[in-house]
Amino acid sequence: MRVSMIGAGYVGLTTGVCLAEMGHEVICADIDRDRIAHLNAGSTPFMENGLAEMMSRNVAAGRLAFTDNLPEAVANREIIMIAVGTPKGAAGEADLSFVREAARRIAPHMSPKTVVTLKSTVVVGTAREVREIIAEERGALDFWVTSNPEFLREGSAIHDFLHPDRIVIGADDRDAADRLIELYKPLLRRDVPLVETGTENAELIKYAANAFLALKIGFINDVADLCESIEGDIQAVARGIGLDKRIGPSFLAPGPGYGGSCFPKDTEAFVATGRAHYAPQPLIEAVIDRNAKRRRRIAERILDELQTARRPTVTVLGVAFKADTDDVRESPALYIIPYLQEKGVTVRAFDPWAAANGAKLLPDVEWYNDPYEAAEGAHLTAILTEWNMFRTLDLKLMAERMRKRVLFDCRNILDPETVIEHGFRHLSIGRATLP
Ligand code: UGA
Repeated sequence: MRVSMIGAGYVGLTTGVCLAEMGHEVICADIDRDRIAHLNAGSTPFMENGLAEMMSRNVAAGRLAFTDNLPEAVANREIIMIAVGTPKGAAGEADLSFVREAARRIAPHMSPKTVVTLKSTVVVGTAREVREIIAEERGALDFWVTSNPEFLREGSAIHDFLHPDRIVIGADDRDAADRLIELYKPLLRRDVPLVETGTENAELIKYAANAFLALKIGFINDVADLCESIEGDIQAVARGIGLDKRIGPSFLAPGPGYGGSCFPKDTEAFVATGRAHYAPQPLIEAVIDRNAKRRRRIAERILDELQTARRPTVTVLGVAFKADTDDVRESPALYIIPYLQEKGVTVRAFDPWAAANGAKLLPDVEWYNDPYEAAEGAHLTAILTEWNMFRTLDLKLMAERMRKRVLFDCRNILDPETVIEHGFRHLSIGRATLP
């Protein structure tokens, strides 16, 4: 099928590349000329496992192209996907101005019988609003607006796209739904479950899914606090509850709180939607509040360890909001590090991918290209991101470099016994501090 992707950001680009991989003819349009020039030169604007290779393969095969020429991108397409940003508005609601603007800009160039589909995370009722915007411009045109939310995790977006748990198609018209079913046929043939529903339900599914996942994380973090108080072990508790199929084992990893470009924004938008429709969501309001306090709690635990240090120095390993991404948006590190600095702590940091993005937002941090250099002279090292390379840290070398041997594993990725064998005091999440 001939697909146009409006917006070559994270969602638009990964989705466009994967659709091309499935055999569709995809053109990605963006108003950012520099971005398009870079894409046309073969470079991706962010790090994502496998994306660069898949992109160049599909460009070479003639199935994928990039343009800043919107009329060219939009005309004669069977499907136009809108994948522009929906940032947080002033009152927590999703700011839909980019979506509305995209609708206004595509309207004059759309061919008859096009299916417009919203990939951006949008509030309930947006598909209807987009339909009205296009109809205002092109009253006589026959077209449909549908909702097709994505469930891609940064770092494993390509895998998630090609092996989804489900495909959600929100359409208020049979022909439009069939067009999207045709698009996903290669996946549906492999028995991927299909949820076919109206546009408003599809829009809500996306928010409710992210809100529920954030709730799971918030819950396990609160249980971790309780484990710390009773000297229990959150790893055992999480495993013990996660094996119950009704609960499930994923998203029960405790840590410094959720971050990223989705959960913080989407939970707030979910709460704002609830308020707007007189159906408050106090559970998720509590999750948001607990997540903010969580980062402060981590920072306070670090400060407690530094009480006797003159000119305290902390090494932070990992500033990305999670592993396998260079994204630092809403990362716990962006809250924990400034909090420490305000209390007079010198912060040295290392991140394998996200240092450049981190340095833009945390200019007063000393950045290093190697975790051991970063550890030089530190009173404490805190692992904030679960990068694989930190699982195999050379603890002997760390011990030699640091002034005091204190390691705070905020992702529970190291074996406590091994850490203390190397002479460290070991702090983690939801377990007793050793020794
Ligand atoms: C999330 C969802 O998982 C995707 O399904 C969704 O499509 C995406 O948002 C989106 O709305 O676009 P993402 O933000 O990329 O994906 O990353 P996650 O892997 O979900 O992690 C989010 C945050 O939760 C990270 O800070 C991570 O460290 C934290 N987390 C995750 C935990 O603290 N514990 C866990 O057990 C899992």
